[in-house]
Amino acid sequence: MKAIVVADQAAGIAGMKLVERPEPQAAINDVVVRVHASGFVPTELEWPSTWTDRRHHDRTPSILGHELAGVVTALGYGTTGLSVGQRVFGLADWYRDGTLAEYVAMEARNLAPLPGDVDFTVGASLPISGLTAWQGLFQHGRLQAGQSVLAHGAAGAVGSMVTQLAREAGAYVIGTGRGADRQKAVDFGANEFVDLENDDLDDVGGVDLVFDVIGGDIQKRSAALVRTGGTLVTVVGPAQSRPTDGLSIDFVVESDRAQLGEIIQRIRDGRLRTNVGKVSALDDAVATFNATERRSGKTVIRVRP
Ligand SMILES: NC(=O)c1ccc[n+]([C@@H]2O[C@H](COP(=O)([O-])OP(=O)(O)OC[C@H]3O[C@@H](n4cnc5c(N)ncnc54)[C@H](OP(=O)(O)O)[C@@H]3O)[C@@H](O)[C@H]2O)c1
Repeated sequence: MKAIVVADQAAGIAGMKLVERPEPQAAINDVVVRVHASGFVPTELEWPSTWTDRRHHDRTPSILGHELAGVVTALGYGTTGLSVGQRVFGLADWYRDGTLAEYVAMEARNLAPLPGDVDFTVGASLPISGLTAWQGLFQHGRLQAGQSVLAHGAAGAVGSMVTQLAREAGAYVIGTGRGADRQKAVDFGANEFVDLENDDLDDVGGVDLVFDVIGGDIQKRSAALVRTGGTLVTVVGPAQSRPTDGLSIDFVVESDRAQLGEIIQRIRDGRLRTNVGKVSALDDAVATFNATERRSGKTVIRVRP
């Protein structure tokens, strides 16, 4: 099968290659999924799990991509809840070969049913951004109706989900980002917008929850805006910065079938809109990821037309 692999950490995205790899087999509790569409987060290349397995052994060449939508083609021993031919979407294990490939083997519990009226491209755009927003707001941030949320990068993949889910939950949302994204953030539901390059973040005053996707100085300045009893949730990870102030939570998104179901239900009934940017074929994916123009929204690789 065709797959996009990396083997040289120093080469970064330029080291991506489209190659032939053997089709994966289903291990215990696994299913094999024929991938129709796949998502990719560029920061994957910075994660140790892209390069080693859980015992820190080199696992290169590793297949990139960890979110997908597709169709189940085989069930491993012990698999429950899914059947061959079923449409699914979900989040693949960080430490195993991923979804920028024609087939992927992954644990059944990391997948949820994808209803027939939701396109594979939409399904593949949701697992990382949707689950990250859901878990950050409701599990880690314990958001309540009437609270205020500072949603950084509100026009981006995660931020647009944060903005919509927080508004639906009854929060007041202050979106941030670059000036060019003001309208897009407002269209996703931000009540206000702060242009981080031209406006003064300190003018925001106190908020109950900061959802940080940027890190660094912006994260530090945002921490000062959190009201007593509030939370700063960040997803940028230790590579950029690690909060040390006690009020911050730094987490990595996990797959969750029930939450995927909540997200897809909202897509179907119009409460949630996905944020797909460029859509490319697998043959063009390496060029797409290496392109230098500014991305807007989630890049989705359509593995099958
Ligand atoms: N821990 C986890 O589980 C987890 C899960 C998902 C995502 N993440 C991380 O979260 C981050 C965001 O992911 P994403 O997929 O939402 O990315 P994205 O679609 O690129 O969204 C980020 C948004 O923030 C804006 N932005 C970034 N730096 C900015 C700055 N200094 N000033 C103003 N705007 C700025 C970006 O604009 P530009 O494109 O112009 O920079 C973009 O609109 C990434 O670092 C990703 O690795 C972590």
